[in-house]
Amino acid sequence: MKTAICYYSRHHGNTLKVLEAMAQEGEIALIDVTTRQTIDLEGCDCIGFASGIYYGKFHDSVINFARQYLPKGKNVFFVCTCGGGVAKKPEELEALAVGRSSTVLGTFRCKGYDTFGPFKLVGGIAKGHPDKQDLENARRFYQEITMMMAETGDKKLRVEKIVIPHEVK
Ligand SMILES: Cc1cc2nc3c(=O)[nH]c(=O)nc-3n(C[C@H](O)[C@H](O)[C@H](O)COP(=O)(O)O)c2cc1C
Repeated sequence: MKTAICYYSRHHGNTLKVLEAMAQEGEIALIDVTTRQTIDLEGCDCIGFASGIYYGKFHDSVINFARQYLPKGKNVFFVCTCGGGVAKKPEELEALAVGRSSTVLGTFRCKGYDTFGPFKLVGGIAKGHPDKQDLENARRFYQEITMMMAETGDKKLRVEKIVIPHEVK
């Protein structure tokens, strides 16, 4: 199966660490949306969009990239890391995907070290994240995606949700 994940990971590279763990479970093209000018995702069976949470949502560069390049009828999933409480559902990206007749497979979330604004004064929050357990959860999440894709072959998945999101603890 051909998978690409389009990502933005700038604050501490937290999200990229999670994606690199996932990429140990199978070949994944990791596409930095800030350096990639253009891409054809038509040949991908499965497409992920990933970023840290910035002001309560995925970074605009990822949302804009999805808007520009997500083809119709794909299987998609989302990955995010965040410093604080529970990250909201990626509603904007989900709506975009559904509008392109894509199937949303699920969202992986975990904490990511955060030194934004006042948090810097206290040495940051979510220190040490993503940690070993987060990365293990990320690998398991991607394993579940590959298993489902293998069962359905190249056909578009029919179920709306196959992966239970890993909530921030
Ligand atoms: C400008 C800015 C805004 C942020 N806003 C939020 C937020 O609204 N909620 C949250 O939980 N974390 C927030 N964070 C923390 C990041 O989501 C967290 O550190 C994330 O892991 C960063 O991912 P990255 O290192 O892959 O860029 C913010 C960080 C920055 C720098």
